[in-house]
Amino acid sequence: MSNKPLLVTCGLPYTNGPCHIGHLRTYVPADFFVRYMRHCGEDVVFVCGSDNHGTPIVISAEAEGITPREMSERYNEHFDTTFKRMNICFDRFGMTDDPINHDMTKEIIQNLIDNGYIYKKTINQSYCPHCKMFLPDRYVEGICPYCGEKARGDECDQGCGKHLEPGEIIDPVCKICGEKAELREQEHYFFKLSDFAEFLNEYLPGLKGTLNARNYASGWIKEGLHDWCITRTLNWGVKFPGRDDLVVYVWVDAPIGYISFTREWAKKTGGNWEQFWKGDAPVIHFIGQDIIYHHCIFWPSLLKGSGFRPPDAVIASGMVKIDDRKFSKSRGYVVWTNEDYLDLGLPADYLRYYLLSYTSHTKELNFSWKEYQARINNEIVDTIGNFFYRTLHFTSRKIGSIPKTEPDNEITEQIKKTIEEVDKSARNYEFKSAVESVMSLGNFGNTYIQSNAPWKLIKTDKTATEQVIRNCLQVVKALTILLDSVIPQKAQESWELLGFKDKVKDHSINDALTGFESEVLPEPRIIFNKIEDERIEEFEKTLRKRVNEANLKENSNIRDENMITIDEFAKVELKTATVLEAEPIEGSKKLLRIQVDLGDEKRQIVSGIAKFYKPEDLKGQQVIVVTNLKPARLCGVESNGMILAAGDEASLLTTKRDVSPGTKVL
Ligand code: MSP
Ligand code: ZN
Repeated sequence: MSNKPLLVTCGLPYTNGPCHIGHLRTYVPADFFVRYMRHCGEDVVFVCGSDNHGTPIVISAEAEGITPREMSERYNEHFDTTFKRMNICFDRFGMTDDPINHDMTKEIIQNLIDNGYIYKKTINQSYCPHCKMFLPDRYVEGICPYCGEKARGDECDQGCGKHLEPGEIIDPVCKICGEKAELREQEHYFFKLSDFAEFLNEYLPGLKGTLNARNYASGWIKEGLHDWCITRTLNWGVKFPGRDDLVVYVWVDAPIGYISFTREWAKKTGGNWEQFWKGDAPVIHFIGQDIIYHHCIFWPSLLKGSGFRPPDAVIASGMVKIDDRKFSKSRGYVVWTNEDYLDLGLPADYLRYYLLSYTSHTKELNFSWKEYQARINNEIVDTIGNFFYRTLHFTSRKIGSIPKTEPDNEITEQIKKTIEEVDKSARNYEFKSAVESVMSLGNFGNTYIQSNAPWKLIKTDKTATEQVIRNCLQVVKALTILLDSVIPQKAQESWELLGFKDKVKDHSINDALTGFESEVLPEPRIIFNKIEDERIEEFEKTLRKRVNEANLKENSNIRDENMITIDEFAKVELKTATVLEAEPIEGSKKLLRIQVDLGDEKRQIVSGIAKFYKPEDLKGQQVIVVTNLKPARLCGVESNGMILAAGDEASLLTTKRDVSPGTKVL
């Protein structure tokens, strides 16, 4: 135990859509860590809040006809409630749009200006002449200048994942009206990120947390750091000091939210916020891998440059995916925390268990209902549930009370060993191995009760049976305390079945080795239930249906993209013509040189129909010609138009009734 408190934060959710289970991979492990550290006697402050600024929120709010503030309040409430339902308990859950964060952001920007880390520069920015506005970030879409994939204004989301600076995107198109955007000059403010390479090179090797965070960040520094444009032409956000027409980029005021929420916690509790941000009490950030750059490069530099202390640890999870694909609402690859899970009566604890135990924290996690079911049924229900119920049931039916003996040495040693293993893993942010160690104590208990068979032993030796049961009860108690960080609700239920009246969360990990309070246990009951096959099939179906529907929609969007307007079609000039002459072209088996009469002019057209028509048969035929094609040379012969034909065998198009050559086709 250390004497300094810890501050733990989680990546702040954006307030333009509901919570999905991908989000939870930031919050569940953080909550596990906080609970575990508290069991170890550490003083932990756990803060979070919602990220309210940025263009996606403005766009979503406009689409719903509400203000960005209203939209933010709605989803702030949603996330707050969802986290509570998931038993993720923050000491403060704030909003980045609240006044304290506006003030804090302005203060930090002012410090950066005073310290010479901000400069003005005129840049070319996407501007929509039709909507008469500058197009910040997601208001514009186009092509990524680095990898050539489709990209959003501030991020290559479908390709290389790079952050894009204003004006960088190629072929910009306005997201509002779909018109081509143009580049216009505008004055913006830049943060001198490039000044911080040396600082970061010194800082990063000492940054604690998961290796991926440190390694990615060090790699990016080698690629070179670019200064960041930190203002946007938007009226939703924190106003840039002295400029009413500009707000700061959302990635500036969002992490500053971490400080503001700490201050709000301090105000509420009389705590000290400066010990974390200016003193030496550790700050630990939990995030997803997608925002490592912001937390390991940009944020530490921003803090350093404004006189605050950079974070001590960054724990970055691998991304949660479905069928190896990124979560995407529009593509249907999404499992909603409420709609698809909690609202169906599935236990929050089971999802927590699955997210913590399925793969190592830094690896990708491909969500699968089948895998979820297997984990819960085989591990939680069969191992833990079975052992708990057998022990408690036997105690109450056959022994009647908790036997008055101490657990055997073998048992306490096994528990101590487990605690040591869990401790090592948890402090190294290896959540999967921490859970595995707990589960192996569960397996130990199961094997122990099975091999000692108290139900047989009791027929011959009551005292020995009592010892076996006392041992089992100790293992149940230890497991209950250890599992509280993983499945807090079930752990509390189990705690009460062990006769305790208080909260298991308030107990030290060392109580895994101490005794019981009451002699007689409450009536035992089953607290872990299996997830039935039919339910899993139903959930799978819902997910597949959503993906399929999204695919259909996507395909019809592609069809839309391929559509042309009547004006575009009208650009093609089609006329009837009469063939005057046709002859083969030397050196070509396919082409014919054809002279046509267009009424007021004669033309030469080269056509690839030699295989299907004899030149002499064409003479006098009425055909349809595209007359405004740019001239081309085929096999060295000039062609001024195209004769229309259908299919692989080039059936020539003609008119049903004779019309004079040169008649327009409409
Ligand atoms: N608002 C930013 C974070 C600002 S922190 C100063 C953001 N918001 S988010 O809503 O997109 O994500 C919130 C958290 O969930 C982040 O930690 C993010 O990394 C995490 N995840 C969101 N989707 C995820 C997956 N599909 N998989 C794993 N983590 C994901 O980013
Ligand atoms: Zn526009």
